[in-house]
Amino acid sequence: MLARLPIHGSSNLTAAYTSFSALCYIYLEVLVKTFRLLLFLAAACAIAFAGDQYPNAALLTSNPIYKKNCAACHGKSAVGRHFNHAPSLLSEKTAAASPDDLRTIILKGKGEMPKFSGKISAAELDALIQQIKTANQK
Ligand code: HEC
Repeated sequence: MLARLPIHGSSNLTAAYTSFSALCYIYLEVLVKTFRLLLFLAAACAIAFAGDQYPNAALLTSNPIYKKNCAACHGKSAVGRHFNHAPSLLSEKTAAASPDDLRTIILKGKGEMPKFSGKISAAELDALIQQIKTANQK
């Protein structure tokens, strides 16, 4: 009887430890999920806010030519993506660019922006320029 006690005691300890680490795990999981949810909400707010500021951006972002050629870098909603340095196309800077400036950048490229000369038709280019200009009208 006496000899069994420590074993009994240690198995209780093990059980207690196991449930404690299980609790820690659940706690961590809840923390991570909450954090992810917060991140998601922040991103959703940022996108919704950008969308509110630029109610005319939908024509550009729903254009299949934009989706195919530009969205990978400038983002689905044209607000840019930080990891590849592509700027937002909804900005004071883009608003200030003339249609000819936009044409030159898109055709010839600039820095990390590839050139689209020969990759999109003249009509597709005109539509993109028009839609970028319209998108920047608040
Ligand atoms: C490989 C990534 C990439 C792709 C694809 C891409 N761009 Fe860009 N774009 C950039 C980067 C990077 C810049 C910033 C260039 C600089 O200033 O050095 C830029 C700049 C621009 C600018 C100038 C914005 C400003 O305010 O200065 C316009 C307009 C633009 N891109 C339009 C487009 C359009 C339209 C398409 C699709 C036909 C497109 N881009 C495709 C990366 C990309």
